[in-house]
Parts: sequence; structure tokens; C-alpha cells
Amino acid sequence: MKFKEALTYDDVLLIPKYSNIRSRKEVHVGNDLDANIHLNLPIISAPMDTVTESEMAYAMHEAGGLGVIHRYNTINEMATMVRELHDSYLREGPGEPNIAVAVGVTGDFLTRAMLAYENGANIVCVDVAHGHHILVREAIEKIKIEFSDKLHVMAGNVATLEAFNDLSDWGADSVRCNIGGGSICSTRIQTGHGMPGLQTIFECAQTDRETKIIADGGLRTSGDIVKAIAAGADLVMLGSMLAGTDQSPGDLIQCGRGIKNKVYRGMASKEAQFDWRGEHSSNEGISTTIPYKGDVRNILQDLKNGIASGLSYSGCRTIEELQARAEFVRQTNAGLGESKTHILQR
Ligand code: XMP
Repeated sequence: MKFKEALTYDDVLLIPKYSNIRSRKEVHVGNDLDANIHLNLPIISAPMDTVTESEMAYAMHEAGGLGVIHRYNTINEMATMVRELHDSYLREGPGEPNIAVAVGVTGDFLTRAMLAYENGANIVCVDVAHGHHILVREAIEKIKIEFSDKLHVMAGNVATLEAFNDLSDWGADSVRCNIGGGSICSTRIQTGHGMPGLQTIFECAQTDRETKIIADGGLRTSGDIVKAIAAGADLVMLGSMLAGTDQSPGDLIQCGRGIKNKVYRGMASKEAQFDWRGEHSSNEGISTTIPYKGDVRNILQDLKNGIASGLSYSGCRTIEELQARAEFVRQTNAGLGESKTHILQR
């Protein structure tokens, strides 16, 4: 039997370091998705039907990040969203837009990728729960044969260095790391499998491949994002932090006395699967409502400020510097209590 200890976000803190940064404006929080794609904000919105359609993707683009349009729609709906997005971008002026769509690994995935590409997409996300899988290998290889380097291939999800390296070798340009750690995930409860989210990043960061690491799921604050990046993630992917906003798909639900909610659900939840294909099989996510949060642009600005502040606490002006300088400490439960606002507990 193999056993090892694994840490996650609340288990650690970054040690503050001497800083000669006079203003957060000196800090650049952007990073590369590959040699040709640079994002000014290291945040990607998740391909989920209560997070990313064209409105969210456009807001992510405006903020310097990226949105991945989900795949729980018809191929024509997907193509229309990509087209809408491409026009919005063209109106904005010159410059190559980044447009990302998710695909599965069976059925129409290659046709989807083709239609997305023909309508202006340059990033395809091979989106399955267990990425270290023969079907993922076959899908990535087929996409690479068809498109070569014309499409950036994002793939996942993985929990180990071995899986990360395999996906990289199969052709993935970036890999979503973390299994079962998302706020609406029940994979670990259902299957007993997974790995604490930050540990997955520590392990995948040992790779010698150029493939980019995307810390996906379980991130609740800008502090968590800074920890993920310091541990070695190039970029992060968010669901719940961006859900419940004006730009996330779905109607507002009025709950009396002016309280408004929106639905946020896992793509492997019974509800999402039923809406998508009229039946459900394995149920590895939940559907819930969360408070309405208004304009996502305000959230993204707060996150950007928090990440910049996080870099400056380590005395770093770039993500690269943070990854070179960062030092973690492990905290006890008492330390975690102290790390949270705690006056109300007294
Ligand atoms: P957060 O914590 O940001 O997580 O809300 C978003 C990520 O969760 C993953 N995801 C799922 N994982 N069952 C799962 O086990 C699901 O139904 C499910 N839906 C989404 C996905 O990686 C997403 O980016």
C-alpha cells in the first residue's frame, strides 16, 4: 500500500519577504498560456453552463483573462457563441482575439473543434473529469493531427505529476490540475479518489515539460490564487468565484426581501446532466444557488488587486519571480483560525 501526506490551501501560508516595490502598479500579474498567447490576468473562467458563455468570455477578455465556453450545448449554439464573440472582438480594434471552447472526447468533439476553429476560436479545451485516460489521449492526438499548432490544446483534469507529463507528451499545451477539489464537486465523496488541490500543484510543478499548469477548482480567495501560483501554477481556473454574476448564464432567482440568487452547479450533477442529455449516470457534483454578486468586472478587479498585493508581499514584480522566491510555512489549526477574520468568534 502506498501512502503519502498531502497539503491544501488552508494548510499553508506564504512567508512575507523584504519588498522594494513602492506601488502595486509596478507589479505585473500576467502570464503566458503558451509561447504565442499572453494573458494580462492569470485567470480563466471554467467551462461550466452556469459560468461561461459569450458574455462571461467577453468580460474575461476585457479584464485580460480568458473564458472557456462550456460544451453542454448543441454544436450550432456553440458556433453562434464563438461567432458573436469574434464580432465583438473585431469591433474593438486590431489584435488577435483569444477564443476558447470546451469539447468532449467522443461523439462530435472533432467537428466541434473544427467549427469553433472556422469561426475564430484558437483554444480548445478537452474537458473531462479524469484526464489521465485513454480517450483523452486519443482525443488530444486526433486534434493535434487535424490542427497541429493552429489550436492551443488545454486538457484535464489531472491529480499527479505522472498524469501531467503524460498529457503533455500526448500533445496538451496546458493542463488543468486538480481532481474533485471544486466547490460543487462530489467526486471525492462518490469515488474516494482525488488529491488535495495545492498538493497537485506542488507535484505537477516538478515537471520538466513546457506545458502550462492551470490550478483548477477549490480556489476561494485571491490569497488562494497567490498560493497556487507560488506553488507553481501558471494560471488559475475559477468557477464559484465568477458564478452568480451578471455575466454568468442563468436567471436571477428572487428569494423575497430583495435577496437574489443564481444557480451554480457541477457539470456532473444530476441536474446538469439531465438538462444536457435527458438522463444522468454517475453523479459527481451538486447543484445549488448562490447569492447574486453583480458585475463580474468588479470581482476581477478585486482579484487582480489581491494578486498584485500578494506578489508584493513576497517582494516580487512578476509571477516568475514569485515562483522563484516563494517560501511556504505549514500552519496549525490555531494558525488557520488566526488567519481568518475572527473577532466575531470571540
Ligand atoms: P470552483 O471551486 O472554482 O471549481 O467552483 C470549479 C471547477 O470544478 C470542476 N467541476 C467539477 N468537478 N464534479 C466535479 O468533481 C462536477 O460536477 C464538476 N463541475 C465542475 C471543474 O474543474 C471546474 O473548473
